[in-house]
Amino acid sequence: MLMNTKEILTQAQQGKYAVAAFNVYNLETAQAAIQVSEREGTSVIIALGERYFPTVDVEGFSAMIKAMAEKVKVPVALHLDHAYEKESIIRAIRAGFTSVMYDGSKYDLEQNIRFTKEIVEIAHMAGVSVEAEIGSVARGAFSDEEEGDGTLTDPQSAKAFVAETNIDFLAAAIGTVHGMYKGEPKIDLALLEKIREAVGIPLVLHGGSGTPENVLKKAIELGICKVNVNTEISMAAVSYLEKYAKEKQTAHLSTIMAEMQQAMEPVMTKFVRLLSKK
Ligand code: 13P
Repeated sequence: MLMNTKEILTQAQQGKYAVAAFNVYNLETAQAAIQVSEREGTSVIIALGERYFPTVDVEGFSAMIKAMAEKVKVPVALHLDHAYEKESIIRAIRAGFTSVMYDGSKYDLEQNIRFTKEIVEIAHMAGVSVEAEIGSVARGAFSDEEEGDGTLTDPQSAKAFVAETNIDFLAAAIGTVHGMYKGEPKIDLALLEKIREAVGIPLVLHGGSGTPENVLKKAIELGICKVNVNTEISMAAVSYLEKYAKEKQTAHLSTIMAEMQQAMEPVMTKFVRLLSKK
């Protein structure tokens, strides 16, 4: 069933578990995410980034996710990931997304507050919840996200940011990276604890891929309610396709796509099991 992202994350916060937000870009990624969550009996957030707007029919995609969500028992939310433009946010709201992320992390605190506040006012009028970020998540290997400078979130700025903007979820930069880590991950869990003390709303961890399992578990204990996962899923699909191309078989595209979907599912299952309490 389709459910508001805020409801899903409020339940996660109360239950002290986290929900996976899987980045999707086509039918197979969406089907894999929803089927895995239904099998595991967990909520899921389907996340489409603004960067895929040029290649994905946003309205058609939203209608498809809503139809898929209605067929399963588990709660499914539809989230706009990393949007930098107000127009994209309005488009997603009109298309029926249940939450949006406005990424003003490249601006200074005052500007980020001003722009985010405006988005919150628009989104809340439509009953859509808003995620925003202060600090900035750096980019590691194989990621498709924008480069961030890796500035960690300052707890007192986070407190002011949440109070002034009235956002629903905060993306906290604590040293995770978008993509795979190029060296040892340096994730500041003590900082996360301070952010948790300063801010009451659900916290979001970007850069799920490659993050050590024990760190993810500890981060959830410290208040992370949503973990974004993209790169590891993409890598599983791409390595299936590479292997396929090397073996030079001839097959129908429908078979290749179905097998590619199967190749992504173990990664999603791993994250779903890790994040949920079971
Ligand atoms: P990864 O690519 O590291 O999994 O991060 C995804 C993400 O945070 C999308 O917002």
